[in-house]
Amino acid sequence: MWCSNMKALILSGGYGTRLRPLTYSQQKQLIPVANKPVLFYAIEDVIEAGIHDIGIILGPNKDQVIETVKSVDWDANIEFIYQGEPLGIAHAIKVAQYWIGSSDFVVYLGDNILREGIVNHLKYFKKENFDASILLCEVKNPQRFGIVQLSEDGKTIKRLIEKPKVPPSNLALVGIYFFKPIVFEAISHLKPSWRGELEITEAIQWLIDHDYKVGWTKVTGWWKDTGKPEDILEANRLILDDIKTSIKVETNARIHGRVIIEEGTQIDENTVIKGPAIIGKNCIIKNVYIGPYTSIGNNCVIENTEIEDSVVLEDSKIKCGGRIVESLIGRNVKILRQHNHPFGKRLIIGDNSQVVL
Ligand code: G1P
Repeated sequence: MWCSNMKALILSGGYGTRLRPLTYSQQKQLIPVANKPVLFYAIEDVIEAGIHDIGIILGPNKDQVIETVKSVDWDANIEFIYQGEPLGIAHAIKVAQYWIGSSDFVVYLGDNILREGIVNHLKYFKKENFDASILLCEVKNPQRFGIVQLSEDGKTIKRLIEKPKVPPSNLALVGIYFFKPIVFEAISHLKPSWRGELEITEAIQWLIDHDYKVGWTKVTGWWKDTGKPEDILEANRLILDDIKTSIKVETNARIHGRVIIEEGTQIDENTVIKGPAIIGKNCIIKNVYIGPYTSIGNNCVIENTEIEDSVVLEDSKIKCGGRIVESLIGRNVKILRQHNHPFGKRLIIGDNSQVVL
Protein backbone atom coordinates (compact mmCIF):
# COMPACT_ATOMS: atom_id res chain seq x y z
CA MET A 1 0.00 0.00 0.00
CA TRP A 2 1.50 3.35 -1.04
CA CYS A 3 0.74 6.25 1.27
CA SER A 4 0.95 8.67 -1.64
CA ASN A 5 0.34 11.92 0.26
CA MET A 6 3.11 11.31 2.81
CA LYS A 7 6.86 11.78 2.48
CA ALA A 8 9.68 10.73 4.79
CA LEU A 9 12.83 12.62 5.71
CA ILE A 10 15.55 10.43 7.12
CA LEU A 11 18.45 12.30 8.69
CA SER A 12 21.86 10.88 7.98
CA GLY A 13 24.17 13.81 8.70
CA GLY A 14 26.00 15.08 11.77
CA TYR A 15 29.55 14.43 12.94
CA GLY A 16 28.80 11.57 15.37
CA THR A 17 31.42 12.85 17.83
CA ARG A 18 30.26 10.45 20.56
CA LEU A 19 31.14 7.52 18.30
CA ARG A 20 34.72 8.50 17.56
CA PRO A 21 37.07 7.08 16.37
CA LEU A 22 34.69 5.09 14.15
CA THR A 23 33.06 8.27 12.85
CA TYR A 24 36.34 9.79 11.66
CA SER A 25 36.09 7.51 8.65
CA GLN A 26 32.38 6.77 8.38
CA GLN A 27 29.01 8.34 8.86
CA LYS A 28 27.48 7.21 12.18
CA GLN A 29 24.22 6.05 10.60
CA LEU A 30 26.20 3.54 8.52
CA ILE A 31 27.63 1.68 11.52
CA PRO A 32 26.13 -1.80 11.36
CA VAL A 33 23.92 -3.38 13.98
CA ALA A 34 23.54 -7.14 13.43
CA ASN A 35 25.50 -6.59 10.18
CA LYS A 36 23.04 -4.02 8.75
CA PRO A 37 23.65 -0.24 8.69
CA VAL A 38 21.52 1.47 11.32
CA LEU A 39 20.14 3.75 8.58
CA PHE A 40 18.56 0.77 6.78
CA TYR A 41 16.28 0.04 9.76
CA ALA A 42 14.77 3.52 9.32
CA ILE A 43 14.35 3.13 5.55
CA GLU A 44 12.66 -0.25 6.06
CA ASP A 45 10.29 1.20 8.66
CA VAL A 46 9.05 4.02 6.44
CA ILE A 47 8.58 1.70 3.45
CA GLU A 48 6.68 -0.71 5.70
CA ALA A 49 4.39 2.19 6.62
CA GLY A 50 3.56 2.67 2.93
CA ILE A 51 5.73 5.76 2.40
CA HIS A 52 7.75 5.50 -0.80
CA ASP A 53 8.97 9.08 -1.26
CA ILE A 54 12.04 9.26 0.93
CA GLY A 55 14.43 12.19 1.28
CA ILE A 56 17.76 11.38 2.89
CA ILE A 57 19.51 14.32 4.51
CA LEU A 58 23.25 14.16 4.00
CA GLY A 59 26.09 15.64 6.00
CA PRO A 60 29.89 15.37 6.07
CA ASN A 61 30.30 11.89 4.49
CA LYS A 62 27.61 12.32 1.88
CA ASP A 63 29.15 10.16 -0.87
CA GLN A 64 29.47 7.22 1.51
CA VAL A 65 25.80 7.45 2.45
CA ILE A 66 24.67 7.74 -1.20
CA GLU A 67 26.78 4.75 -2.21
CA THR A 68 25.55 2.58 0.68
CA VAL A 69 21.88 3.45 0.15
CA LYS A 70 22.18 2.87 -3.61
CA SER A 71 23.67 -0.60 -3.02
CA VAL A 72 20.12 -1.80 -2.27
CA ASP A 73 17.18 -1.81 -4.69
CA TRP A 74 14.61 -0.07 -2.43
CA ASP A 75 10.90 -0.05 -3.23
CA ALA A 76 10.96 3.76 -3.03
CA ASN A 77 11.92 6.99 -4.80
CA ILE A 78 14.94 8.25 -2.92
CA GLU A 79 16.03 11.89 -3.02
CA PHE A 80 19.38 12.89 -1.52
CA ILE A 81 19.40 16.34 0.10
CA TYR A 82 22.64 17.93 1.27
CA GLN A 83 22.35 19.80 4.56
CA GLY A 84 25.76 21.47 4.55
CA GLU A 85 26.85 22.29 8.09
CA PRO A 86 24.88 20.15 10.59
CA LEU A 87 22.96 22.86 12.44
CA GLY A 88 20.26 20.76 14.06
CA ILE A 89 17.23 18.64 13.23
CA ALA A 90 14.98 21.65 12.57
CA HIS A 91 17.65 23.07 10.24
CA ALA A 92 17.74 19.79 8.29
CA ILE A 93 13.94 19.96 7.88
CA LYS A 94 14.17 23.56 6.70
CA VAL A 95 16.77 22.61 4.08
CA ALA A 96 14.34 19.98 2.73
CA GLN A 97 11.33 22.33 2.50
CA TYR A 98 11.61 22.62 -1.32
CA TRP A 99 11.30 18.84 -1.61
CA ILE A 100 8.54 18.34 1.00
CA GLY A 101 6.31 21.01 -0.56
CA SER A 102 2.75 20.70 0.75
CA SER A 103 2.95 17.04 1.88
CA ASP A 104 2.59 15.73 5.40
CA PHE A 105 5.79 13.99 6.38
CA VAL A 106 7.61 11.90 8.95
CA VAL A 107 11.09 12.83 10.14
CA TYR A 108 13.14 9.81 11.20
CA LEU A 109 16.59 10.29 12.74
CA GLY A 110 18.76 7.76 10.94
CA ASP A 111 20.56 6.67 14.11
CA ASN A 112 17.34 5.60 15.86
CA ILE A 113 16.01 2.03 15.86
CA LEU A 114 12.42 1.36 16.85
CA ARG A 115 11.48 -2.29 17.15
CA GLU A 116 7.75 -1.90 16.48
CA GLY A 117 8.19 0.29 13.39
CA ILE A 118 6.01 3.36 12.71
CA VAL A 119 2.82 1.91 11.19
CA ASN A 120 0.57 2.39 14.23
CA HIS A 121 2.05 5.77 15.11
CA LEU A 122 1.41 7.02 11.56
CA LYS A 123 -2.18 5.74 11.66
CA TYR A 124 -2.85 7.71 14.84
CA PHE A 125 -1.33 10.90 13.40
CA LYS A 126 -3.63 10.58 10.35
CA LYS A 127 -6.75 9.55 12.29
CA GLU A 128 -6.52 12.44 14.76
CA ASN A 129 -5.55 14.93 12.05
CA PHE A 130 -2.73 16.33 14.20
CA ASP A 131 -0.51 19.17 13.03
CA ALA A 132 2.38 17.33 14.65
CA SER A 133 2.70 14.09 16.56
CA ILE A 134 5.64 12.75 18.54
CA LEU A 135 6.62 9.39 20.00
CA LEU A 136 7.48 9.11 23.67
CA CYS A 137 9.46 6.48 25.52
CA GLU A 138 10.42 6.19 29.18
CA VAL A 139 14.19 6.45 29.67
CA LYS A 140 16.59 6.04 32.61
CA ASN A 141 18.79 9.02 31.62
CA PRO A 142 16.42 11.88 30.71
CA GLN A 143 19.25 14.47 30.72
CA ARG A 144 20.43 12.99 27.40
CA PHE A 145 17.20 13.57 25.45
CA GLY A 146 14.39 15.95 24.63
CA ILE A 147 11.90 15.49 27.49
CA VAL A 148 8.19 16.29 27.73
CA GLN A 149 6.03 17.38 30.57
CA LEU A 150 2.42 16.28 30.14
CA SER A 151 -0.67 18.10 31.46
CA GLU A 152 -2.03 17.04 34.89
CA ASP A 153 -4.53 14.63 33.30
CA GLY A 154 -1.70 13.19 31.18
CA LYS A 155 -3.58 13.83 27.93
CA THR A 156 -1.78 16.72 26.32
CA ILE A 157 1.78 17.98 26.06
CA LYS A 158 2.46 21.04 28.17
CA ARG A 159 6.17 21.59 27.59
CA LEU A 160 9.17 20.16 25.74
CA ILE A 161 12.72 20.72 26.96
CA GLU A 162 15.90 19.71 25.16
CA LYS A 163 18.35 17.86 27.43
CA PRO A 164 17.07 19.33 30.73
CA LYS A 165 19.43 19.52 33.72
CA VAL A 166 16.45 18.93 36.01
CA PRO A 167 14.07 16.75 33.98
CA PRO A 168 10.35 17.19 34.74
CA SER A 169 9.70 13.56 33.69
CA ASN A 170 11.44 10.54 32.21
CA LEU A 171 9.41 10.67 28.98
CA ALA A 172 11.86 11.18 26.14
CA LEU A 173 11.14 12.26 22.60
CA VAL A 174 12.00 9.46 20.23
CA GLY A 175 13.78 10.67 17.10
CA ILE A 176 10.68 10.15 14.96
CA TYR A 177 8.20 13.00 14.34
CA PHE A 178 5.11 13.43 12.17
CA PHE A 179 4.37 16.88 10.75
CA LYS A 180 2.08 18.89 8.58
CA PRO A 181 3.88 21.64 6.60
CA ILE A 182 2.93 24.20 9.29
CA VAL A 183 6.15 23.09 11.03
CA PHE A 184 8.09 25.19 8.47
CA GLU A 185 6.39 28.28 9.88
CA ALA A 186 7.38 27.17 13.40
CA ILE A 187 10.99 26.62 12.31
CA SER A 188 11.18 30.06 10.70
CA HIS A 189 10.75 31.59 14.19
CA LEU A 190 13.62 29.61 15.81
CA LYS A 191 16.95 30.98 16.97
CA PRO A 192 20.00 28.73 17.49
CA SER A 193 20.04 27.11 20.94
CA TRP A 194 22.94 26.96 23.45
CA ARG A 195 24.42 24.14 21.35
CA GLY A 196 24.19 26.27 18.21
CA GLU A 197 21.37 24.20 16.70
CA LEU A 198 17.83 24.84 15.51
CA GLU A 199 16.04 22.52 17.95
CA ILE A 200 13.05 20.52 16.78
CA THR A 201 11.76 20.48 20.37
CA GLU A 202 11.47 24.29 20.23
CA ALA A 203 9.61 24.14 16.90
CA ILE A 204 7.08 21.72 18.44
CA GLN A 205 6.79 24.00 21.50
CA TRP A 206 6.02 26.88 19.11
CA LEU A 207 3.17 24.81 17.60
CA ILE A 208 1.76 24.11 21.09
CA ASP A 209 2.06 27.77 22.12
CA HIS A 210 0.18 28.80 18.97
CA ASP A 211 -2.67 26.34 19.59
CA TYR A 212 -1.82 23.86 16.88
CA LYS A 213 -2.85 20.26 17.54
CA VAL A 214 0.16 18.32 18.80
CA GLY A 215 -0.39 14.66 19.71
CA TRP A 216 1.75 11.87 21.06
CA THR A 217 1.91 8.09 21.15
CA LYS A 218 3.87 5.90 23.49
CA VAL A 219 6.38 3.35 22.28
CA THR A 220 5.37 -0.16 23.33
CA GLY A 221 8.50 -2.14 22.37
CA TRP A 222 12.11 -1.02 22.69
CA TRP A 223 13.71 2.07 21.16
CA LYS A 224 17.40 2.82 20.85
CA ASP A 225 19.23 6.00 19.87
CA THR A 226 22.60 4.62 18.78
CA GLY A 227 24.61 7.73 19.64
CA LYS A 228 27.32 6.06 21.74
CA PRO A 229 29.35 2.82 21.53
CA GLU A 230 27.40 1.21 24.39
CA ASP A 231 24.15 2.01 22.54
CA ILE A 232 25.42 0.19 19.43
CA LEU A 233 26.20 -2.87 21.59
CA GLU A 234 22.79 -2.69 23.25
CA ALA A 235 20.96 -2.29 19.91
CA ASN A 236 22.98 -5.24 18.61
CA ARG A 237 21.76 -7.40 21.53
CA LEU A 238 18.16 -6.33 21.02
CA ILE A 239 18.19 -7.05 17.28
CA LEU A 240 20.00 -10.37 17.69
CA ASP A 241 17.39 -11.41 20.24
CA ASP A 242 14.93 -11.63 17.34
CA ILE A 243 16.97 -13.44 14.67
CA LYS A 244 16.20 -16.89 13.28
CA THR A 245 18.82 -19.51 12.48
CA SER A 246 20.09 -19.46 8.90
CA ILE A 247 23.33 -21.27 8.14
CA LYS A 248 24.35 -21.10 4.51
CA VAL A 249 27.62 -23.05 4.77
CA GLU A 250 28.79 -26.57 5.66
CA THR A 251 30.61 -26.69 8.97
CA ASN A 252 31.45 -29.17 11.70
CA ALA A 253 31.73 -26.45 14.32
CA ARG A 254 29.63 -26.81 17.46
CA ILE A 255 26.73 -24.40 17.09
CA HIS A 256 24.17 -23.75 19.83
CA GLY A 257 21.16 -21.46 19.73
CA ARG A 258 20.16 -19.11 16.89
CA VAL A 259 23.04 -18.31 14.58
CA ILE A 260 23.22 -16.77 11.10
CA ILE A 261 26.23 -17.65 8.99
CA GLU A 262 26.45 -16.12 5.50
CA GLU A 263 27.81 -17.59 2.25
CA GLY A 264 31.50 -18.14 1.68
CA THR A 265 32.44 -18.25 5.36
CA GLN A 266 34.67 -21.08 6.54
CA ILE A 267 34.43 -22.29 10.12
CA ASP A 268 36.62 -25.12 11.39
CA GLU A 269 35.56 -27.97 13.67
CA ASN A 270 37.41 -26.57 16.70
CA THR A 271 35.12 -23.55 16.79
CA VAL A 272 32.18 -23.18 19.18
CA ILE A 273 29.42 -20.65 18.49
CA LYS A 274 26.67 -19.82 20.96
CA GLY A 275 23.86 -17.68 19.59
CA PRO A 276 22.29 -15.36 19.11
CA ALA A 277 25.08 -14.37 16.76
CA ILE A 278 25.64 -13.41 13.13
CA ILE A 279 28.71 -13.98 10.98
CA GLY A 280 28.90 -12.23 7.60
CA LYS A 281 30.16 -13.40 4.20
CA ASN A 282 33.62 -14.76 3.35
CA CYS A 283 35.01 -14.91 6.89
CA ILE A 284 37.60 -17.39 8.12
CA ILE A 285 36.96 -18.58 11.66
CA LYS A 286 39.46 -21.03 13.19
CA ASN A 287 39.63 -22.37 16.72
CA VAL A 288 37.41 -19.62 18.04
CA TYR A 289 34.71 -19.32 20.68
CA ILE A 290 31.98 -16.91 19.57
CA GLY A 291 29.62 -16.16 22.43
CA PRO A 292 26.08 -14.72 22.53
CA TYR A 293 25.30 -11.27 21.09
CA THR A 294 28.20 -11.15 18.67
CA SER A 295 28.05 -9.75 15.13
CA ILE A 296 31.00 -10.30 12.81
CA GLY A 297 31.04 -8.36 9.51
CA ASN A 298 32.04 -9.65 6.06
CA ASN A 299 35.62 -10.73 5.22
CA CYS A 300 36.90 -11.04 8.79
CA VAL A 301 39.58 -13.51 9.88
CA ILE A 302 39.32 -14.67 13.47
CA GLU A 303 41.67 -17.26 14.91
CA ASN A 304 42.50 -18.59 18.39
CA THR A 305 40.29 -16.03 20.10
CA GLU A 306 37.23 -15.91 22.33
CA ILE A 307 34.78 -13.16 21.49
CA GLU A 308 31.43 -12.43 23.06
CA ASP A 309 28.82 -9.66 23.19
CA SER A 310 30.70 -7.62 20.58
CA VAL A 311 30.39 -6.02 17.16
CA VAL A 312 33.22 -6.46 14.65
CA LEU A 313 33.02 -4.54 11.39
CA GLU A 314 34.14 -5.92 8.03
CA ASP A 315 37.69 -6.74 6.89
CA SER A 316 39.09 -7.06 10.41
CA LYS A 317 41.64 -9.61 11.53
CA ILE A 318 41.77 -10.90 15.10
CA LYS A 319 44.40 -13.57 15.78
CA CYS A 320 45.26 -14.84 19.27
CA GLY A 321 43.15 -12.03 20.66
CA GLY A 322 42.59 -13.64 24.07
CA ARG A 323 39.09 -13.05 25.36
CA ILE A 324 37.26 -10.05 23.91
CA VAL A 325 33.98 -8.88 25.47
CA GLU A 326 31.62 -5.90 25.07
CA SER A 327 33.75 -4.45 22.29
CA LEU A 328 33.04 -2.41 19.19
CA ILE A 329 35.78 -3.03 16.64
CA GLY A 330 35.93 -0.94 13.45
CA ARG A 331 36.72 -1.81 9.83
CA ASN A 332 40.03 -3.26 8.76
CA VAL A 333 41.32 -3.46 12.35
CA LYS A 334 44.12 -5.88 13.27
CA ILE A 335 44.41 -7.41 16.74
CA LEU A 336 47.43 -9.71 16.79
CA ARG A 337 49.72 -11.34 19.37
CA GLN A 338 53.35 -10.41 19.85
CA HIS A 339 55.64 -13.42 19.22
CA ASN A 340 59.08 -11.75 19.40
CA HIS A 341 60.99 -9.64 21.91
CA PRO A 342 60.36 -7.07 23.22
CA PHE A 343 57.12 -8.46 24.65
CA GLY A 344 54.50 -6.06 25.89
CA LYS A 345 51.51 -4.25 24.49
CA ARG A 346 52.17 -2.53 21.19
CA LEU A 347 49.37 -0.16 20.33
CA ILE A 348 48.68 1.94 17.26
CA ILE A 349 45.36 3.50 18.12
CA GLY A 350 43.54 6.41 16.51
CA ASP A 351 42.46 9.58 18.31
CA ASN A 352 39.57 9.18 20.75
CA SER A 353 39.91 5.38 20.88
CA GLN A 354 39.30 3.48 24.07
CA VAL A 355 41.20 0.38 25.21
CA VAL A 356 40.48 -1.44 28.47
CA LEU A 357 43.30 -3.90 29.27
C1 G1P B 1 17.90 14.43 19.33
C2 G1P B 1 16.78 15.36 19.80
C3 G1P B 1 16.21 14.88 21.12
C4 G1P B 1 15.73 13.44 21.01
C5 G1P B 1 16.86 12.56 20.47
C6 G1P B 1 16.35 11.17 20.16
O1 G1P B 1 18.98 14.52 20.22
O2 G1P B 1 17.30 16.68 19.88
O3 G1P B 1 15.13 15.71 21.50
O4 G1P B 1 15.30 12.97 22.28
O5 G1P B 1 17.42 13.10 19.26
O6 G1P B 1 17.31 10.36 19.58
P1 G1P B 1 20.52 14.44 19.69
O7 G1P B 1 20.68 13.10 19.02
O8 G1P B 1 20.69 15.59 18.75
O9 G1P B 1 21.37 14.58 20.92
